[in-house]
Amino acid sequence: MARPLPIVVLISGTGSNLQSLINARDGGRLPVEIRRVVSNRPEAAGLKRAERAGIEPVALDHRMFDTREAFDSALAGAIDAAAPRLVVLAGFMRILTDGFVTRYTGRMINLHPSLLPAYRGLDTYERCLRDGVTEHGTSVHFVTPELDGGPVIAQAPVAVRAGDTAESLRARVQAREHRLLPEVVRWFADGRVALEDGRVLFNGRPLERPILLTEDNRLILPDETRTLETGP
Ligand code: GRF
Repeated sequence: MARPLPIVVLISGTGSNLQSLINARDGGRLPVEIRRVVSNRPEAAGLKRAERAGIEPVALDHRMFDTREAFDSALAGAIDAAAPRLVVLAGFMRILTDGFVTRYTGRMINLHPSLLPAYRGLDTYERCLRDGVTEHGTSVHFVTPELDGGPVIAQAPVAVRAGDTAESLRARVQAREHRLLPEVVRWFADGRVALEDGRVLFNGRPLERPILLTEDNRLILPDETRTLETGP
């Protein structure tokens, strides 16, 4: 078997998505070596999850730095010391400088709770309920200097139900994130996804639209009628 993909995961909070990666790894469904978990909040519960899973937790409190540049440079140091091939932002709630983002072009992905390009930024659940949209969801995208604006690799739509609150919708979207994120990271481990000239390549071909993970766990490639196999 190929060597596991070395990754670093950045978090700010609960770390339930980090846990989904750990679980997939432990279940033999995700060939990754999670070398470090870095949080900008020392109190983040996700750091404990890392520790329990035998992963080095690194707390890098952004409040200890005078400028964004100084924080980002320390963050880059913490990442590069682990020499990852992929950096996963899993609930990392800091805006990153362009210089930092550019350093990791093509090897840094983010999870965002909306069907991008809709609802970039914060409070996506509240905003979509206020607008009365019928579909929400989550996206995994390459990180570029434009906030939540990088090329989208895959999305999981979630139907909004009558009577949904931000909490009920968040719970269903997060359940989909826990399925989607390990799936996308597995494509990286398998060398199936890349960024080229600002476009997502999947199996060497440009993706016209994001890959969809349906609510019944089918993966649909936009330009083909066939569906992909989900992980074991
Ligand atoms: C996720 O819902 C993600 O979409 C957003 O932040 C949340 C992090 O949750 N960016 P967790 O820390 O992984 O539980």
